[in-house]
Amino acid sequence: MTKLAIIGGTGLTQLSDLTIIKRDKLTTPYGAPSADFITGALNGKDVIFLARHGNPHTIAPHKINYRANIWGLKHLGVEQIIAVAAVGGITEAMAPAHIAIPDQIIDYTHSRLHTFFEDENYPVTHIDFSYPYNQKLRSALITAAAKANITISPIGTYGCTQGPRLESAAEINRMEKDGCDVVGMTGMPEAALAKELDMAYAAVSVVANWAAGKTEGEITMAEIEQHLHVGMVNIALLLKTYIAST
Ligand code: HPA
Repeated sequence: MTKLAIIGGTGLTQLSDLTIIKRDKLTTPYGAPSADFITGALNGKDVIFLARHGNPHTIAPHKINYRANIWGLKHLGVEQIIAVAAVGGITEAMAPAHIAIPDQIIDYTHSRLHTFFEDENYPVTHIDFSYPYNQKLRSALITAAAKANITISPIGTYGCTQGPRLESAAEINRMEKDGCDVVGMTGMPEAALAKELDMAYAAVSVVANWAAGKTEGEITMAEIEQHLHVGMVNIALLLKTYIAST
């Protein structure tokens, strides 16, 4: 069976239905990962879970050691990663609590350690990133959503910003013109690093709020948490349905 990992973001620091089998505290050539890697059983199948922002949730998006996280998963034999992350909704369908399985990325981050291919351990390699996400895994997740009766957007462009602040309304306008449907802070370099290590990676985005300037008033953490709470119920169902199909 393909070894699966789930990386949980804001609103998903633990998988409540996971029966924990073991915890691996790894040190990696790239430093410390965000948290222990938790191996457990979900619906009778082995899954490794990693809390992207640590547990408790304390690591800001730009401070996440993406290389240590992805290297650690590879080291544990993971072949497939489902990356769950909260996003802001930009285009019309991306209302709070909605789920999207993006098919494209635009990277607006800077100063993040974003590649393995820069030291003597690896020859210089330019991976193909035309289609950042693994199509087979995306299709399986889209099928699982249909089976579980969860309405999702099966495509979308994920714009990754630096954070931790939210965007200005003008930045969101520019991102919309660029073609972004959702905005998050953690999709990159995570997706590229997984591809560098030849792992099948797909993202599941949960809309926490309308992006800046898309509604009146301020975006509050309370609003984000409330919508994530609703969205995560569907995420849990989607993950279980996907796992049952493997
Ligand atoms: N912008 C960036 N990242 C986010 C947002 C947002 O509005 N909401 C949740 N993560």
